[in-house]
Amino acid sequence: QGDPRLKAISEAIRVVPHFPKPGIMFQDITTLLLDHKAFKDAVDIFVDRYRDMDISVVAGVEARGFMFGPSIALAIGAKFVPLRKPRKLPGEVISEAYVLEYGTDCLEMHVGAVQPGERALVIDDLVATGGTLCAAIRLLERVGAQVVECACVVGLREVKGQHRLNGKPLYILVEPR
Ligand code: PRP
Repeated sequence: QGDPRLKAISEAIRVVPHFPKPGIMFQDITTLLLDHKAFKDAVDIFVDRYRDMDISVVAGVEARGFMFGPSIALAIGAKFVPLRKPRKLPGEVISEAYVLEYGTDCLEMHVGAVQPGERALVIDDLVATGGTLCAAIRLLERVGAQVVECACVVGLREVKGQHRLNGKPLYILVEPR
């Protein structure tokens, strides 16, 4: 708040009404990626926040967490771990299902990617219900990691599903427009 970079970041995110279905105001971060200054500012804000928090794992959620996570991981000296949709990872995996509006989906993580006791940051582009981030938290905690925080570019500060984040703090850059 008060950071002038946040206004430009918010304005660089295109809002597409009724995508992918009627009633949804889609927050399209691909236009943020086109704006070098706004994209860099977004990554820099995360990096400034997390560089001295002794984080060794940045876990990014497919697909759009992959667009921010690796830059943050490289800058803070952490590894990047992709949390993927089912049947994408070739090695041994653990899986966590989560509830969608219609049906369920699942995130998977490679066994051995994260060691017990590691301090992890979970990154995604957007939080809506919080179900996806909760599945990510559960994956990391199942292997004995400590989730320090979840971070998103866009989200409601009072996330409806915040109780579903298992008490983990949630850091959001901008609210949806
Ligand atoms: C979107 C978004 C988050 C998730 C947030 O991904 O990128 O990962 O939904 O929703 P939630 O807080 O209600 O769980 P989506 O499921 O569209 O997958 P994609 O990035 O692979 O397209």
